[in-house]
Amino acid sequence: MANALVPGSFDPVTNGHMDIIRRASGLFDTVHVLVASNNAKNTLFTAEERVEMLRRLCADMNDVVVNSFEGLLVNYAQQNNITVIVKGLRFVSDFEYELQMALANHRLNSAVETVFLPTGVEYSDLSSSIVKEIARLGGAVEGLVPDIVQQRLVAKFAARTR
Ligand code: PNS
Repeated sequence: MANALVPGSFDPVTNGHMDIIRRASGLFDTVHVLVASNNAKNTLFTAEERVEMLRRLCADMNDVVVNSFEGLLVNYAQQNNITVIVKGLRFVSDFEYELQMALANHRLNSAVETVFLPTGVEYSDLSSSIVKEIARLGGAVEGLVPDIVQQRLVAKFAARTR
């Protein structure tokens, strides 16, 4: 088997992300969940907050470690003996972006392969952006994110409107 990396912004982690992490944990020796920086995004939660939430949510999975990293995924992979990057795919539109990333990562380090897992059908419409928009406007995000994330979202937006 191999060690795998599940990278993302996780701003915040959704039930769809947790589904991918849990399934990856059954497929690989060790799974590193990596809060990585995406230049295109301004985040609601700090990297520390996102790591802390993920660590709590992954605490029952012994083969999962959670870290954050500034820099190229392939460098983190090389430093941690990781040969597989796992990405969840929802729509065809995800595929175009994800394929480009997979090709870039492979160009940077051909020893690292990207494996795509189809998102569970019950989560296929979920994204962190949609969840944030619903929470920001006072809608219910129950069932879309884990309970602790729901509480953090409510607290975050309440603090912002104070
Ligand atoms: O959840 P996201 O925002 O779709 O995740 C994107 C992420 C963070 C995985 C991506 O932006 C990323 O890989 N960032 C680290 C920098 C890097 O290695 N980029 C790939 C080569 S260009």
